[in-house]
Amino acid sequence: QEKRFSVANRRRRDTEAVEMMKFFAELDAWEEHQKGKSTLKFGSQDGKNAAEDYNYVFEDQIDFVQLSGIDEEPSEAESGSISRGLMEERKTLPIYSFRDELLHAVNDHQVIIIEGETGCGKTTQLPQYLHEAGYTKQGMIACTQPRRVAAMSVAARVSHEMGVKLGHEVGYSIRFEDCTSEKTVIKYMTDGMLLREFLGEPNLSSYSVVMVDEAHERTLSTDILFGLVKDIARSRKDFKLIVSSATLDAVKFSEFFDGAPIFRIPGHRFPVVPYYTRVPEADYIGAAISTVLKIHVTEPLGDILLFLTGQEEIESVDGMLKERTRGFGTKIAELIICPIFANLPTELQAKIFEPTPEGARKVVLATNIAETSLTINGIKYVVDPGFCKTKSYNPRTGMESLVVNPISRASANQRAGRAGRTGPGKCFRLYTEYSYKHELEDNAVPEIQRTNLANVVLTLKSLGIHDLVNFDFMDPPPSEALLRALEQLFALNALNAKGELTKTGRRMAEFPLDPMLSKMVVASDKYKCSEEIVTIAAMLSVGNTIFYCPKDKQVHADNARMNFNPGNGDHIALLNVYNAWKEMEYSTQWCYENYVQVRSMKRAHDIRDQLEGLLQRVQIDIRSNPSDLDATKKAIASGFFPHAAKLRKDGSYRTLKNPQTVYIHPSSGVVRVHPRWLVYNELVLTTKEYMRQVTDIKPEWLVEIAPHYYHLKDVDDPAIKKMPRGQGKPALWQWNSQIKMGRVGMR
Ligand code: CDP
Ligand code: MG
Repeated sequence: QEKRFSVANRRRRDTEAVEMMKFFAELDAWEEHQKGKSTLKFGSQDGKNAAEDYNYVFEDQIDFVQLSGIDEEPSEAESGSISRGLMEERKTLPIYSFRDELLHAVNDHQVIIIEGETGCGKTTQLPQYLHEAGYTKQGMIACTQPRRVAAMSVAARVSHEMGVKLGHEVGYSIRFEDCTSEKTVIKYMTDGMLLREFLGEPNLSSYSVVMVDEAHERTLSTDILFGLVKDIARSRKDFKLIVSSATLDAVKFSEFFDGAPIFRIPGHRFPVVPYYTRVPEADYIGAAISTVLKIHVTEPLGDILLFLTGQEEIESVDGMLKERTRGFGTKIAELIICPIFANLPTELQAKIFEPTPEGARKVVLATNIAETSLTINGIKYVVDPGFCKTKSYNPRTGMESLVVNPISRASANQRAGRAGRTGPGKCFRLYTEYSYKHELEDNAVPEIQRTNLANVVLTLKSLGIHDLVNFDFMDPPPSEALLRALEQLFALNALNAKGELTKTGRRMAEFPLDPMLSKMVVASDKYKCSEEIVTIAAMLSVGNTIFYCPKDKQVHADNARMNFNPGNGDHIALLNVYNAWKEMEYSTQWCYENYVQVRSMKRAHDIRDQLEGLLQRVQIDIRSNPSDLDATKKAIASGFFPHAAKLRKDGSYRTLKNPQTVYIHPSSGVVRVHPRWLVYNELVLTTKEYMRQVTDIKPEWLVEIAPHYYHLKDVDDPAIKKMPRGQGKPALWQWNSQIKMGRVGMR
């Protein structure tokens, strides 16, 4: 039967909703609702304003509150309905039986460490429990994730479980994409985004709870967050901190957080039998594909999870698997191939969570993200080639590159565990048992110890944290890396010789970009080309996904790509692509015709808008200087001069500082032009050290732009012999020697 409660024609605000809930509690209706037995609906009389959720949200006016259908399955379409099926599913998760205990623990302690098997419900359930217990009355709940995809997909799941629209009560925030609103009380976000929030709100006063999730991943941002939130916990008594992780680092976390109690959620895991190869695999991609196919033809039904290292690999395996299964006919079950990576459209991302149709088998192609951050139901077989892509950084040379590396034993165990969630499983390791036992490292090295720290150092300096050596690190970075970071920021003119933030540095910190990119943006002011430079920065931020190249149309795609690059360098080429698209009024058709990914372009468009907004904030006018390409290139060089390289006779290049042999990436538009001098955006190590995104420069610019960094002897070129000599020792040298004496921002 349907009960209907009419509430007088009054204006109500969000805060009044809580009162209303109490009103319902008295009527038993709320309790029924909590148990999942009924549906609550709020809305205005004519139904137009039907609020979209059952909980706190009220559009401005509410005319009726309706409790309907006790014991009746609510229809999906019904706004405000919460699916009972989902409610039941929530209760079957291992974490559910600890709900009350967990809430008590949070109530009694300011900081707690939670450890539980992947998939037990930490990420999706805990924030909801805290919300149900009223913690969101004082502020939002933040839950940090190391990866963008995880933040997005978990937020989508939780908003679905709560029966609210994504971006309303439950939202997510990732770099360049804010899917939250004034209503948001549970906010999933990347750890990097929470770090940035400190810039505007140093004590995070709009949050009542911060949950640092996936803490075992030990990303750079998570490690820095540890130190910052620990400090907040000391100064704000009303603040709650939860550190959650999947593996056995809990004791270390507890020690760091002054002996915070550890809460273990016992998981049930079925046995997973590991299989190894007899000899090491030379070609792990080939081996992975044949293993997947072998499982598919010989093993009982059950989904497969294959771990790969990145989007390019996933896409190529996707293609190869499709090709190989084409001839299978009807005798063999259907194999549904589901790739997942950050740039995949959301609707395709959702596909991996859909139940596999009867009689078919799914194979999920994922990166490390599926190791602990995402749980996919129904996986019975794991194929683990044993590799992942990691950043590596050499503090001595300042070189940073993305490299495919063997995983750690802890990762191998996590990966295998994914096969044993719903029943016994099998894990096919494409390496030998000997490697597993004797060659893999126990644990991965935390990112803070193998990355360029310039970005976080700039953030910390903007937060007024001057003394970096004594910052509360769980594992301190190598002091050489800290020094390098300070040095780089000094070179970019973000810090002065005393290690203090300069005006340029303060402006740079406003941009959620790496320091060299943000320096390029800030420098565009001087060269009057901010219009062009923000476009380039936006295009670079999208990643290497602007162009696509279908296998059967490679020549056409290459030609299309080269059309944008008449030898002016890859940055200008990106600018040309964007401007051509803009001229065609952002046409999708145009993208198809030019082998350009429309999705990436739209993202660049969004990012560009945001960067433009930030330009205003730092009071840089939007100015265009289209006829003077050199001005744009000088602005680029103002950011990227530390990445300068000079051509050698054999066609290779030599980097100027810390000389190393590098090559132009084959995808570059100037790979055949071989400019004498250039700056590059990044290095990638595949078969060689390749420079990706390069722009030709004039050597004298280096001395003009960065006289404290380059001297005439560095840019020894016959063309500029006649330039005046610099005097005295370079400022960088003086600064360095100060550090060595321990005076500058270090101790
Ligand atoms: O964080 P933890 O690994 O402990 O688990 P979780 O991410 O909260 O996931 C709990 C359960 O929610 C999983 O076992 C999945 O069955 C389900 N889930 C889902 O179906 N779809 C998602 N996008 C996320 C989670
Ligand atoms: Mg999780």
